[in-house]
Amino acid sequence: MAAHAGAIALITGVSGQDGSYLAELLAAQGMQVYGLVRRKADTSNWRIQALLDSGRLSVIPGDVTDGGAVMRIMSQLRPRFVFNLAAQSFVHYSWDVPLATAEATGLGVLNVLEAVRQVRTDATGQAIRFYQASSSEMFGNAASEPQSENTPFHPRSPYGVAKVFGHHITVNYRESYELFAVSGILFNHESERRGLAFVTRKVTMAVALIKRGLQDKVALGNLDARRDWGYAPDYVRAMQLMLEQDEPRDFVIATGVSNTVRELCEAAFGEAGLDWQKHVEVDPAFMRPAELHILRGDSGMAQAMLGWEPEVSFGEMIRRMVAADIDRVDSGRHWEV
Ligand code: GDD
Repeated sequence: MAAHAGAIALITGVSGQDGSYLAELLAAQGMQVYGLVRRKADTSNWRIQALLDSGRLSVIPGDVTDGGAVMRIMSQLRPRFVFNLAAQSFVHYSWDVPLATAEATGLGVLNVLEAVRQVRTDATGQAIRFYQASSSEMFGNAASEPQSENTPFHPRSPYGVAKVFGHHITVNYRESYELFAVSGILFNHESERRGLAFVTRKVTMAVALIKRGLQDKVALGNLDARRDWGYAPDYVRAMQLMLEQDEPRDFVIATGVSNTVRELCEAAFGEAGLDWQKHVEVDPAFMRPAELHILRGDSGMAQAMLGWEPEVSFGEMIRRMVAADIDRVDSGRHWEV
């Protein structure tokens, strides 16, 4: 990858879990990494603070819903690689704000693609390569399991519907304008940097607080929901590999192993020597209007063509997440949400 030393990469959504790991990966290869960051009331950028402090990442204020701003940034920066990770990414919240979700998660993709189409090449004249963060949520109520690149989409949330738009418009721009534009259909992927609103981190943080006697119960929704949970640093490697191919192509990225939320609880509480059944309550408030019951991916094509494989297992990931949250509680870093 040293061939890319000095190349410019633009990551939208850089302050999120995946953006932070991807920025580290690219910066370590000597790329000039820029991240688009939306201004929020909460200005904490804890996931990328170390990169910012070391000068290996530069932040550009902006928002993918503002097409003019995206166009201006693209034409000034002229990156070689564009990773579009920005989205309203909370599935449950997408029923509360369906239009805002459609704008950020759906139309935002088009704004970035349109800027790529018009700017076309990077500062050295090479064609810009574009990655879209598609999601297994697009499969929704899938008719078959495991889901692969050939499984039809049946999204079950406003978020999933918006992601399907982003996916198809990426395919359409590739076919219409011969852009190097690809989608990674990533199944759930978690880490020590996951946001607290997602179920894995909600559980591991609760385990840490319960272990230290600061909390006794945690309320969850559907314990029977099943997900294919991988480790985020493994998944950002796949994003880059997709942009390294000779031909643009979409790939499913998954572990092929699924667990229920109940099994997640067993594993996480077990790590701390606790009995999950004494601490987990079910609260209908966390149930969704429509649920996906079985998500499990077939990443055979990525393994064969990208040489990609997940390295960290579900059990090892949960162990790391519980340890990181106990460390946070012990050192008072509760603000890392
Ligand atoms: N968040 C949450 N909170 N989920 C819960 C809870 C709870 O208290 N209790 C049960 N769940 C169940 C949800 O109903 C869902 O079936 C499952 O846990 C996973 O929920 P999340 O962790 O919120 O993730 P997600 O699957 O909805 O979405 C994530 O993965 C997608 C890829 O498939 C997000 O990262 C999306 O942005 C991503 O596209």
